[in-house]
Amino acid sequence: MKPETPHPSRSARHLLPQGEKGWSRRTILASSLALPLAACDRFASAEATPLDVPPLKSIAPAPFGTAIKASHIDDPDWVALARANVSQLTPEWEMKMEYILANGLDRPNFDRTDRIAAFAQSNGMGLHGHTLIWYSQGQEAFAGLDNAAFDRAFDGYIATVAGRYRGKVRSWDVVNEPILDDGSAMRDCHWSQRYGQDGYILRAFEKARIADPQAVLFLNEYNQESVPAKGAQFLKLVERLLKAGCPLQGLGLQSHLWIDIPEGVIAAYMREVAQFGLPIHVSELDCTLRTDNRLDLRKQADRIAAQGARVTELTSAFAALPKAQQFAFTIWGLRDTDSWYRQADKDDGKDKPLPFDSFGRPNPMAAAIAAGFKTPA
Ligand code: G3I
Repeated sequence: MKPETPHPSRSARHLLPQGEKGWSRRTILASSLALPLAACDRFASAEATPLDVPPLKSIAPAPFGTAIKASHIDDPDWVALARANVSQLTPEWEMKMEYILANGLDRPNFDRTDRIAAFAQSNGMGLHGHTLIWYSQGQEAFAGLDNAAFDRAFDGYIATVAGRYRGKVRSWDVVNEPILDDGSAMRDCHWSQRYGQDGYILRAFEKARIADPQAVLFLNEYNQESVPAKGAQFLKLVERLLKAGCPLQGLGLQSHLWIDIPEGVIAAYMREVAQFGLPIHVSELDCTLRTDNRLDLRKQADRIAAQGARVTELTSAFAALPKAQQFAFTIWGLRDTDSWYRQADKDDGKDKPLPFDSFGRPNPMAAAIAAGFKTPA
């Protein structure tokens, strides 16, 4: 049974420690006890006048990327929008164990990942590898292996996959999401059970370094900026890994934002994580308009305004980084309907988590990104 992918913006929300820098239940209630009239506006979706936003890659201070599925290559509207706005791609799921090892360790699938790599190359776009080792995948393929076989499979997987795309990817998310949602500790998983919580990360980076000496090697995590304890745990992990001589070269802030992160928290975290002096990748930006709060009767327009404020804060903080630390800025999809938030089991039909609407027209979020690039913090 495929483990449920965590819902970054929700899995920690109810866990956020009270009284921390993060938002409190009081903040949410205050913002959600909007006028009763709000309820009847909630479903209003007045057609906004088309926004005039320049192509995002033309105004970004670093490569501007998006997530891609192989099926997007057969969608001419998606291809046109991508060619106009992005200069880098991240495979959304087909470069992960769930696709590559779907038929087992001995029969890896590379057809779709090769196709994505070829598309990137033929369109002059960079490719960011995502992701080699993730707590939430690989259980089935690695089940039942004795230690020696497990080691051969772990090392062999990284050597094979990172080796196959050597010279095609500029970077890798070597390890994804090693920290518990509440930030209290490192996750335990099949990888840590074999090598230890830091050990599997160290091993993965060392094997990736051997397989692709040129790729920039990243550690990638979500909710660092929005769950203070998780951000703190991430910073401590980075410190330990660097002290241990880990070839960690870049830090991925997934930035699956939500609209109720208190003002200033995102920018403050960006400044804090930048202190390591490493390249930073805003690696999976989206910002759902939805909250877990059933009492939240805010109008769509108010949600969009809150989304814009948070997205501009993130973009502006990224634009203020030293040039050498601006690795790339990636959105987790182009159009609202491409978003994982709009996948069948989550779709409310109204969420606007990405910079373009289903017709490829700029959303207010695109204007918020442009505003942030224009005004570095
Ligand atoms: O397209 C196939 C469909 O043909 C098939 O019938 C179906 C059967 O399961 O699977 C479909 O593929 C799904 C794919 O998304 C495309 O929609 C996969 O099952 C599903 O596992 C995959 O989910 C992806 C998820 O990571 C797990 O890999 C999401 O698209 C993707 O947005 C999400 O991205 C993660 C990042 O990697 C890490 N950070 C959090 C982020 C959001 O969860």
